[in-house]
Amino acid sequence: MSSLINKHVLLGVSGGIAAYKSAELIRRLKDLGADVRVVMTSAAQEFITPLTLQALSGNPVYTELLDPEAEAGMGHIELARWADIFFIAPCTADLIARLALGQGNDLLTTIALACQAPLALAPAMNQAMWSHAATQDNLALLINRGAKVFGPDSGSQACGDTGFGRMSEPAVLATQLSECFSSGLLSGLNVVITAGPTREAIDPVRYISNHSSGKMGYALAQACAEAGARTRLISGPTQLSCPANVERIDVTSAQEMLDAALACKADIFIGAAAVADYRPETIAEQKIKKQGADTGTTTLTLVQNPDIIATIASDINKPFVVGFAAETENVVSYARSKLIKKRLDLVIANDVSRQDIGFNSDDNAVTLISATGEEYLEPRSKYQLALELVRRIAIAYR
Ligand code: C5P
Repeated sequence: MSSLINKHVLLGVSGGIAAYKSAELIRRLKDLGADVRVVMTSAAQEFITPLTLQALSGNPVYTELLDPEAEAGMGHIELARWADIFFIAPCTADLIARLALGQGNDLLTTIALACQAPLALAPAMNQAMWSHAATQDNLALLINRGAKVFGPDSGSQACGDTGFGRMSEPAVLATQLSECFSSGLLSGLNVVITAGPTREAIDPVRYISNHSSGKMGYALAQACAEAGARTRLISGPTQLSCPANVERIDVTSAQEMLDAALACKADIFIGAAAVADYRPETIAEQKIKKQGADTGTTTLTLVQNPDIIATIASDINKPFVVGFAAETENVVSYARSKLIKKRLDLVIANDVSRQDIGFNSDDNAVTLISATGEEYLEPRSKYQLALELVRRIAIAYR
């Protein structure tokens, strides 16, 4: 069963009697784990109040394009960027026409123009309006541009007619929406991902580690599971919860991460972990006491950790191996030498000297490097980036 856990669903509500079902729809979307924000047209507010949808979504409802207060907080461009999917339910004949024309004459249509996330529509209207050639032509245009259309159902209508035009039931719509995130691109494949930092113990209370949040690796695990792969996530210590349908194997040190990686059969191996390069030569059994009272210094002898991804890639039956390269300068050339030296199939390189992306940030921008070329992927959320990366990994693997 698909889920909407961690998904940002931007729900557009337009002015039809089915707008009353939007309240129930928000409940069902939230049941599947979605974070829901609502945008309403002015006509929608004649049928149901923003306050109702605010209370149910737990977020402010957006209604005005030129609202200085909203623009100072989450304006139309931020909302468009925030969305993992833009779902318009109910979607009236008028709105379908405006979307087909590419109009931006209110908040909802402006967001539709600015939004790069997938668009899904649940049409709702009188049966004659639904079967009108203008509506059908407009809808065909939107489908041709990639929009998904759910329903409408057939049955008795609020206006007394009977026929196609009723908005589908909220529970059905929520399930259909969740299925938009299951691409099947990796179905039947075993994907193993390492993520997060490792901790290298010094004594029972101290360790060496780094600032990796694990967000990129977890986003990739979510995207791989949604693409149908059996996904195992070998994770160092993080604050993150395990994505749906992902098997997490918790580890602490680099050696434990390597052991876990060697124990998993993989068709595709993605090394997103920030593995500590060195560990203390010995782990003291008791807490080390303050030393060097005279000099103010102490010495810790470190030994090199195994290179997990290089070990996996050196296997005679090596999986398709994807590595990361976090660099502060000469990003592409350093990453390319890693591709060759570690025998990787793809390297995802990012510039960690930039403040807006990378370590601990929610956004990232990367350059994807293979033996034959390179491609820059613009900044976006780590989840959106993971979806793009999984698409490219699946193509390269096949
Ligand atoms: O050498 P560097 O740490 O920059 O390489 C980064 C890539 O190698 C990442 O994919 C990382 O997960 C992996 N790596 C590893 N084991 C190590 C060090 C890095 O798997 N000991």
